Amino acid sequence: MSAKTSRSIIGWPVYLVLVFVLIFSVLAAIEFFNYTPTDTEHVPEATLTADSYLDKVTPLLADASAERGAELVVQYGCTACHREGAVNGIAPSFTGIGERVGTRRPPLAPEAYIYESINFPLAYVVEGFTPAMPLDFSSRIPAAEQGDIIAFLLSPDAH
Ligand code: HEC
Repeated sequence: MSAKTSRSIIGWPVYLVLVFVLIFSVLAAIEFFNYTPTDTEHVPEATLTADSYLDKVTPLLADASAERGAELVVQYGCTACHREGAVNGIAPSFTGIGERVGTRRPPLAPEAYIYESINFPLAYVVEGFTPAMPLDFSSRIPAAEQGDIIAFLLSPDAH
C-alpha cells in the first residue's frame, strides 16, 4: 500500500468528524441567535388562572420605573397606535388603561394581561379592533424595559 493511499483512507473519518462539528456549530449558532429574553409560548386559554404570568411579571415590577416606561412607549412606537392612532380608533387609548385591564380577560391580573398583550398580541384581541400589534416585541423589548412599560400603563399617568 503506498503512503498516498493509506493517508486518504485515514482521511475519511477525519472529514466526517469535521462535517459533524460544522453542522453542530451551525445549529448552535441558530439556537443562539433565536434566543429571546422572554417567553415563546402563551398560556393556553383553558388553563389561564389568576396567577398566570405572575411568576414572570412580579419580579419585573419590583424595581420598575413608570417614568422610564413613559419614555419607552414613545421609543418603541406604541404611542403611534395607542395615542395618536387611538383618536381614529386604530388601537385602544392608553388613557385609563389601568382601570380597564383588570376586567379585560378574567381571570388574568392587570399586569399579567398587559404582559401577555406585549409578548403574545394574538392570544387575545380586544373586541372591535383589528389585531395590528407588532409580533416581535417579545424579542425586541428586554424584560426590564417591559417592567417599566407595564408600570407606566398601570399608573394613573398612562396616556
Ligand atoms: C401598529 C399599531 C400598534 C402598535 C405599534 C402597538 N400596538 Fe398595542 N394594540 C394595537 C391594537 C390594534 C390593539 C387592540 C387589538 C388587540 O388586542 O390586538 C392593541 C392592544 C394592546 C393592549 C391591550 C389594550 C386593552 O385596552 O386591552 C396593550 C396593553 C398594548 N396593545 C400595548 C402595547 C405596547 C406596550 C406597545 C409598544 C411596545 C404597543 N401596544 C404597540 C396596536 C398597536
